Amino acid sequence: MSTWTTTEKKPVRKKVTIHTLMEKKAKGEKITFLTAYDYPTAAIEDEVGIDLILVGDSLGMCVYGFDSTLPVTMDMMVNHSKAVRKGAPNSFVIGDMPYLSYQISVEQAVANAGRLMQECGVDGVKLEGGLEMADRVQAITKAGIPVMGHLGLTPQSASMLGGFKAQGKNVDAALKLMEEAKALEEAGCVSILLEAIPAEVAQLITERANIPILGIGAGPYCDGQVLVVHDLLGFFGGHVAKFVKQYANMNEIIEKALTEYKEEVESGAFPAPEHCYKIKEEELEKLRKAVGNK
Ligand code: KIV
Repeated sequence: MSTWTTTEKKPVRKKVTIHTLMEKKAKGEKITFLTAYDYPTAAIEDEVGIDLILVGDSLGMCVYGFDSTLPVTMDMMVNHSKAVRKGAPNSFVIGDMPYLSYQISVEQAVANAGRLMQECGVDGVKLEGGLEMADRVQAITKAGIPVMGHLGLTPQSASMLGGFKAQGKNVDAALKLMEEAKALEEAGCVSILLEAIPAEVAQLITERANIPILGIGAGPYCDGQVLVVHDLLGFFGGHVAKFVKQYANMNEIIEKALTEYKEEVESGAFPAPEHCYKIKEEELEKLRKAVGNK
């Protein structure tokens, strides 16, 4: 007779590390990457084997209903990163550095990246920007913290870019992106996220990089792909970018369930007997007598 329990039988997933990601790039195996902002979503992503999870500052829009990522604070990132880490012990969890948590000075950048590591137990941090951020990347890396760079459409500087537009669409802009990717790698980045750039430009960067290159709206040639999980699930998105593929329509599912609940509460169909706690008949009899005597 087997002494295995169901849990023991389940294949145990190995913790994803920088080495896992480098190995996948070397073997040409695609890296899977999603955002998560809470415990249950992170737990499902870990369970299905997603390699990387980003606690993205996109939580500003997805969770808090802001119009952009700019109002997101370090405290918000810390709280959500703690929840995600707890839900996803095996995925490589990255805490996104919010606006003004690293732009002001190298010291603040290291201190804030350190908060995400120390208070939340994330595996690394992500920050936006190229050459101008090389000193931050160097200093954070020196503190023993893996850094993911972010190039192309960088939402924290959307105003400087003239809006949420694809980047790297002419030879000068593409060459600049390639140069920035090289600078980030040289500064110590363990990976780079490319957002909203032509597939062929992302391919040139991916082929030349020694670190994993992840893409969102950067075509199929990157070492891996990321999407904002709310976009993928069709959960509460307003405008959805061209590069999003929606794999479910959670809005529809949730709306249907909530409407049914509302109708059943109003009609008295919920709660039914199976949702109610029972009291023994003799106890009820005694209770009625006791109440009756008062
Ligand atoms: O914050 C975020 O969700 C991002 C996406 C581009 C993945 O940075």
